[in-house]
Amino acid sequence: MKETFAEKDLDENVILTKLNTRYEEWNKEDHDVMNWDAKPLSEIVDHIRHTHHAYLMEELPALGQFVTKVYSRHGASHPELKELYHVYNEFKLEMEEHTIKEENTVFPLIKEYEREPSEELLHQIRKADGELEEEHNTVGDKLKVMRTITSDFQPPADACGSCQITYARLAEMEENTFQHIHLENNVLFSRL
Ligand SMILES: [Fe+2]
Ligand SMILES: [Fe+2]
Repeated sequence: MKETFAEKDLDENVILTKLNTRYEEWNKEDHDVMNWDAKPLSEIVDHIRHTHHAYLMEELPALGQFVTKVYSRHGASHPELKELYHVYNEFKLEMEEHTIKEENTVFPLIKEYEREPSEELLHQIRKADGELEEEHNTVGDKLKVMRTITSDFQPPADACGSCQITYARLAEMEENTFQHIHLENNVLFSRL
């Protein structure tokens, strides 16, 4: 990312301070987040899989095609679209790997723990959750960088239809991912 900041002649420290507060700000805003505290853990896990993970598996490649298209069409006159292309593809890869890891490792362990709790299982789950939460921070930072690159997902005045769709869907990706991370960090993992 250093190059990106240098190219744009922006102060990296100032930006990162601003970026790291975005998720906290989102958390304080009035979002439509259901009260999951009384629900069984397995129900929360299934909800995450069927809504957030299913959304990502479909939307990450579909939105990726838009990001590539606007970069190839307008990258010469809008250098920010090249940066967006790079950051988005890193985000996409990390999110795909992260989601698969959750579905293959920690989610089955959580379900098993609910059926038959043991200290051993709890220890394994907590260890895995620590890593997953770190990955949430990394992908959260990528979203924040994309927000900065795109001037808060506001397309430029001369933007074409594809560009407008791309920016609107990126904003949706941010909102969905913040809800997703909130559910995992503050509801699911915090109960274990
Ligand atoms: Fe997830
Ligand atoms: Fe996650």
